[in-house]
Amino acid sequence: MTIRRAGVDDAATLSDLAARTFTETFGHLYPREDLDFFLADAYAVDKQAVILGHPDYAVWLLEEDGVAVGHAAAGPCGLPHPEVQPGDGELKRLYVLASHQGGGWGSRLFKEAEAWLLRDAPRTLWIGVWSENFGAQRFYARFGFDCVGTYEFPVGRVRDVEFILRREAAAG
Ligand SMILES: CC(C)(COP(=O)(O)OP(=O)(O)OC[C@H]1O[C@@H](n2cnc3c(N)ncnc32)[C@H](O)[C@@H]1OP(=O)(O)O)[C@@H](O)C(=O)NCCC(=O)NCCS
Repeated sequence: MTIRRAGVDDAATLSDLAARTFTETFGHLYPREDLDFFLADAYAVDKQAVILGHPDYAVWLLEEDGVAVGHAAAGPCGLPHPEVQPGDGELKRLYVLASHQGGGWGSRLFKEAEAWLLRDAPRTLWIGVWSENFGAQRFYARFGFDCVGTYEFPVGRVRDVEFILRREAAAG
């Protein structure tokens, strides 16, 4: 498999993959109409195109024989925590299709995003993760992230409790 930086032409691919990986991971948690509302809004093709074309954001696709099976996204930190500073970075998405997990590719995607986020200087990095996503929490703990807060993440009418994870610049 290969990892490559995604571009604006990948907006439809990214929209489709993001909806599939979110549904595969979390779809069972929400009523169908809340899930559909969230997917149509958060992963709309035009929104992906905006992110893909924005110089402050970056997206990577993990591909198997040219077919997208995973993605990561990074950009400025938008998490609601009082200690977020201008210039802090955030890993905004990290998903590998279940059929392709456990082979080290999630770690490789993480490292691509991390290298890009730290390309100019050490930075404090942040991640939001569902409070009951214990597997991902273990994964991020291995990369030095600690839980420093919580917030509510809306999926349709449902409000999920999310943990806010942080890794200080000096620990990067
Ligand atoms: C988190 C994720 C990207 C890791 O990708 P991956 O290719 O499986 O990662 P790697 O093979 O590099 O590392 C595997 C590690 O992931 C962690 N992990 C993540 N989810 C896990 C799960 N559901 N069950 C067990 N371990 C999990 C473990 O710490 C595992 O380490 P181990 O091998 O010591 O058990 C992938 O599990 C995934 O896409 N999960 C679903 C989406 C998700 O939860 N994304 C995070 C949203 S914030």
